[in-house]
Amino acid sequence: MGFPFSRMRRLRSTPGLRSMVRETTLQPANLIMPLFVVPGERVKREIKSMPGQFQLSVDQVVDEGKKLRDLGIPAILLFGIPEYKDESGSSAWDDKGIIQRALRGLKESVPELLLMTDLCFCEYTSHGHCGILKGHELQNDATLEIIVKQTLSHARAGADFVAPSGMLDGAVGAMRQGLDESGFSNVGIMAYAAKFASSFYGPFRDAVASAPSFGDRKSYQMDPANAREALREVALDIEEGADIIMVKPALAFLDIIAKVKQEFGMPTAAYNVSGEYAMIKAAAEKGWIDGERVMLETLLGIRRAGADIIISYFARDFAALYQQGKGML
Ligand code: PBG
Repeated sequence: MGFPFSRMRRLRSTPGLRSMVRETTLQPANLIMPLFVVPGERVKREIKSMPGQFQLSVDQVVDEGKKLRDLGIPAILLFGIPEYKDESGSSAWDDKGIIQRALRGLKESVPELLLMTDLCFCEYTSHGHCGILKGHELQNDATLEIIVKQTLSHARAGADFVAPSGMLDGAVGAMRQGLDESGFSNVGIMAYAAKFASSFYGPFRDAVASAPSFGDRKSYQMDPANAREALREVALDIEEGADIIMVKPALAFLDIIAKVKQEFGMPTAAYNVSGEYAMIKAAAEKGWIDGERVMLETLLGIRRAGADIIISYFARDFAALYQQGKGML
């Protein structure tokens, strides 16, 4: 029945009523905080294009891990900036590498925190591409062999979840098999299943110095125009054994998140990437928007689209607000 019997505004009249009919929730448990680890001690270097985000040495990552745990953030996603880079990115599977040291430190000091690692080679190769090259071409199957080495090295150091981000065909299956054969059947895989070739990764590439020295990533990351292809990518990763599937970036791809959730009903993650963070921070610094409110609206929107889990540089700020009872719009 229409107006005047139905009045939609009735349910919006008080904060209590609004809270009762609110459809989407946002809690620290929905969030994963990405952290950047660098060699050294007591290093806490702010990333220019990501205000409030830092390159941290292992001791600092451990401190940060404790704070995040206390704020109710269940998981972190680790990115490494290694001591050395070479053609094949071999520092990525060095048992004494930067990520491996961070994992051991965190496992020992913050055992409650779920440790996830990003698996890719762009931070570790001298050319900045995500694996082994032949000429200018990324070699898929040769890279699978080293991604399994990287996976096992992270698992030995204490990773609970590994997250392949290179958009290589067959990576999830190869990793699952490698893990199972080595007795790591409890280590999970969060697959960057539909990862688009996006300019929103710009600040991240500053943070880890991983911009490709030539060309771009369009021959492995997806064309932002494609939605049907995203569903095929996700279906393949599920078949290969992914436990959590991810869509990345989030904001220009909310339709993909919604479709993926509806189609597969899997635990679905969305990556609220560096450029999305930087835009809000920059506009807030200029006083053009209310940064806190826009952050809340953004995270809520990603949840409403269908994401169970959001990987976001806002995770810590959000959890701090939530703890003060200010985590809702
Ligand atoms: C590694 C990787 C990237 C991001 C996560 N893992 C960069 C890229 O693909 O170029 C981007 C994260 C962000 O922008 O926040 N391949």
